[in-house]
Amino acid sequence: MRSVVLFGSFYALLALPHALAVKSQDFKTCSQSGFCRRGRALAARAQEAQSSWKSPYTVDPSSIVISPEDSTVKAAVKSSLYPEIKFGLELRIHDDGVVRVLLDEVDGLKKRYDEAASWALVSEPKLSKGIRWAAGKKELRAVFGEKNDIEVAVDYDPLRVRLRRGGEDQIVLNGRGLLHMEHFRSQTLKETIEEVASDENAEGQEVLQVENVRAWFEGDSEDAYWEEKFSSWTDSKPKGPESLSLDITFPNHGTVYGIPQHATNLSLPSTTGDSPSYTDPFRLYNADVFEYLASSPMSLYGSIPVMHAHSADTTVGVFNAVGSETWIDISYPTKKSTHTHWISESGIMDVFLLPGPTPEEVFAQYARLTGTTALPAHWSLGYHQCRWNYVSSDDVRTVQRRFDEEDMPVDVFWLDIEYAQDHKYFIWDHKTFPDPVEMTNDVAAAGRKMVVIVDPHLKRTSDYPVYQEASDLDILVKPKSGEGEYEGWCWTGSSSWIDHFNPASWDWWISKFKTTKNDTGFSWTESTEDIHIWNDMNEPSIFNGPEITMPKDSIHHGGWEHRDVHNINGMLFHNNTAQAVRLRSDIPKRPFVLTRSFFAGSQRVGAMWTGDNLGTWDHMAVGVKMVLANGIAGMAFAGSDVGGFFGNPEPEMLVRWYQVGIFSPFFRAHAHIDTKRREPFLLDEPYKSIVRDILRLRYAMLPIWYTAFRENSVTGMPIVRPHYVVFPQDTAGFAIDDQFFVGSSGILVKPVTEKDKTEATVYIAEDQVYYDYFTQYAYRGSSKGKHITVAAELHQVPVLIRGGSIIPTRERPRRSSPLMKLDPFTLRVALSKTGTARGDLYLDDGVTYSHQQGDFVWREFVAEQSHKKTTRISSKDLASHNPGKAVDGIALTTFDPKNAFAKEIEEVRVEKIVVLGLNSKPRSVNVEGGAELKWEFVPGVAASDKKEGVSSVLIIKDPKVLITTDWAIVIS
Ligand SMILES: *[C@@H]1O[C@H](CO)[C@@H](O)[C@H](O)[C@H]1NC(C)=O
Ligand SMILES: *[C@@H]1O[C@H](CO)[C@@H](O)[C@H](O)[C@H]1NC(C)=O
Ligand SMILES: *[C@@H]1O[C@H](CO)[C@@H](O)[C@H](O)[C@H]1NC(C)=O
Repeated sequence: MRSVVLFGSFYALLALPHALAVKSQDFKTCSQSGFCRRGRALAARAQEAQSSWKSPYTVDPSSIVISPEDSTVKAAVKSSLYPEIKFGLELRIHDDGVVRVLLDEVDGLKKRYDEAASWALVSEPKLSKGIRWAAGKKELRAVFGEKNDIEVAVDYDPLRVRLRRGGEDQIVLNGRGLLHMEHFRSQTLKETIEEVASDENAEGQEVLQVENVRAWFEGDSEDAYWEEKFSSWTDSKPKGPESLSLDITFPNHGTVYGIPQHATNLSLPSTTGDSPSYTDPFRLYNADVFEYLASSPMSLYGSIPVMHAHSADTTVGVFNAVGSETWIDISYPTKKSTHTHWISESGIMDVFLLPGPTPEEVFAQYARLTGTTALPAHWSLGYHQCRWNYVSSDDVRTVQRRFDEEDMPVDVFWLDIEYAQDHKYFIWDHKTFPDPVEMTNDVAAAGRKMVVIVDPHLKRTSDYPVYQEASDLDILVKPKSGEGEYEGWCWTGSSSWIDHFNPASWDWWISKFKTTKNDTGFSWTESTEDIHIWNDMNEPSIFNGPEITMPKDSIHHGGWEHRDVHNINGMLFHNNTAQAVRLRSDIPKRPFVLTRSFFAGSQRVGAMWTGDNLGTWDHMAVGVKMVLANGIAGMAFAGSDVGGFFGNPEPEMLVRWYQVGIFSPFFRAHAHIDTKRREPFLLDEPYKSIVRDILRLRYAMLPIWYTAFRENSVTGMPIVRPHYVVFPQDTAGFAIDDQFFVGSSGILVKPVTEKDKTEATVYIAEDQVYYDYFTQYAYRGSSKGKHITVAAELHQVPVLIRGGSIIPTRERPRRSSPLMKLDPFTLRVALSKTGTARGDLYLDDGVTYSHQQGDFVWREFVAEQSHKKTTRISSKDLASHNPGKAVDGIALTTFDPKNAFAKEIEEVRVEKIVVLGLNSKPRSVNVEGGAELKWEFVPGVAASDKKEGVSSVLIIKDPKVLITTDWAIVIS
């Protein structure tokens, strides 16, 4: 947060009314960033020149080298502006049709950072074999794909890369001629030119001409090439200009999504062109933005340079693997096309073109590149209660007791920075936390966990062993001189930062989390395996740094500047912490580590949240969109702080916020130190009872969430899915970002994020019946799309079940989720208009990795109409049929339905089956080949009817079937 902290006025400042809002002057606009200015100036010149604009970059056809065995092609590229500078282009076709395009300077004065992809990628992608590249007179081409309908073409003059499908351009690189890779040069341009001129014996006059062209292309003057000032900071730029400008055009896609994290609409608003929504480009530069705006293209805490481009015909994607600050301009020249312009400060060009052609395939292609969310600990899907701060062990115990007294479920209690003596993380303040292990054991006695904060800033004092060891090992980030330790200010006062790019820091950091004594260094003996971790401030946030972060000329391992790796930095800290938590127990357990900062690939490590939001309705609403956008970019385990970090939400707002929270993959309430206590048990009636019911709904639905996480862990499909993902051809749904589906379950949610609402409008995209989850009211959609009005009084969150779904829930209220392990299930069978339904359920021990050896249960439930009057509902094992993709992306060769976990829960039964939308009262309900069951039928609207109204409901009580075995129930 703010540098004012240093002067002791922090608390006073926060007590001020929050109309203060974001300090925009702390963060650069494009016009205050040299390379962004240069990039935009280039675009402006191209715009002005119109058709006479020509990219100076060309491919030298004589240089093309094709390696047929791995479908790779390399070629030399030149810029007519700098004929003396050499560039190398490389294209690789992956075996799933993804095309990777690399461009780098060859034999430059220095080296560009080229490791961003290696941090982001889960492994080296498999290249396709035997694709035939054909080098023609004007272009180089390859045709591939299962149907041989994808084509990649490289035009020579000017250089252009086009991904085509069915003869139409889908993604075009440098189609607008904005490609510019600023080459390394020595301090004065003249010197370079003179050197070159004398080398090549060129005529003085030619040099002059070239210079004119350069000026025309690059700008009028050397703009912030060697030094740049912002506010009171100076960024020395020892390597000089090295930015990369690249236009990416989607000529046949009129909607783009992704590039989190921004507080903005899911369908990305324009930043250039005619009357743009925003005047600055979207910025990716991980930053701790105090009281951020609820609608802005400004940077926030994390950056994922992934974009989906969507139309009713196809979806494609790009992943631009760059770790430096990046600005992205977006415009929509027509309703059906999109221009984007990516301007990065440093690094090679390393762009992955994802051919789709469906959203599902784009998710799969991106997941194969950067991985998926590892299946999280099951308890981490429960409710997390956080506050800055629970001030003592007794405070924690009291809060826990109050939850129990009020019968409110909760899984995790959190401790913010005040648990640590002088903010020296790991070191408990014994005045307030005299007994951390006993406190944690008390929490764990109810099956619960604790999450404790460990931030990346280390207090620079010799009595802090963690700092002292890091200093002795020389694994701290260095200042621009490259010598000694970079020093900045954070919560801890004078601090240094571990350089997680340095492999020497990895094992050391892992050893800090061991709970057993280590004679050679500090280990966290005052902790237990029930303590998990929260990594905050890892952008990194530095109170007295430029833009509240680390100076760009600070030095990391390998001599790289912070500018090269800034957006990756937070992911490495997060990853190494998660490794440490995983490895501290003899039998590795799934770690839970929450991060604020993230990059492409962070999904493999753990959850994120949207940072320090405000307790306002517009922040509540944009939080939903931000969580959806994170899901688009693979970062599926996401949530926003319930209640808003800043401010004191009134009870109505808090209730609505809990309704948002229970429908987020990550569900945590948090509050600033200056806010009033607002744990749900403090609410008055009727709010308290409403929130209790909301919390119980989350717990009842945990099977749905966990099953959605399983799917995400295998396919990369988001856990919360916006409309375009589920109905890619429905143009009317492209901009919808305030309602979404939960996994493949068929649950459609539209949280209320406005005051004084009693009704909500929900968009239904298809001709199908949708049932109100609570009232069983059957609504009808239309194939043309239709808006329906649903009740949304304060106690009502609009939740619909899509006809054709079977929803497994566990409806017995418990204090925490581990206590539900042996609870029975309820199945809601919501018949489609044709009388069918399906659903699945995934379960495992939720803690260890034994699921990767096959210890899990994965069932499919199906309802079919065998003939007009008979409905058969059955359960069968899914894993034996799909062992290769059952879980966590791990391919099992065989699966034993009677594995150790299945045995542990073999007595778990289905206690109730509710069938919605049957045509008429059954004559009998039997277990197939067995006795008649107890049932009750309330007549109502049938799924096949055209009318709306409360649906018919059949309740089968205690159907005498188990969750782990095959069975069928026949309703006739
Ligand atoms: C976001 O979407 C809403 C609803 O479609 C629209 O009214 C608003 O103008 C959009 N915001 C921006 C910045 O484009
Ligand atoms: C003990 O600590 C040292 C230094 O922190 C570390 O290198 C070593 O791996 C640790 N040993 C164990 C068994 O964790
Ligand atoms: C995360 O840690 C694992 C284990 O140390 C390592 O193999 C992997 O490369 C790391 N990934 C990132 C992104 O830091």
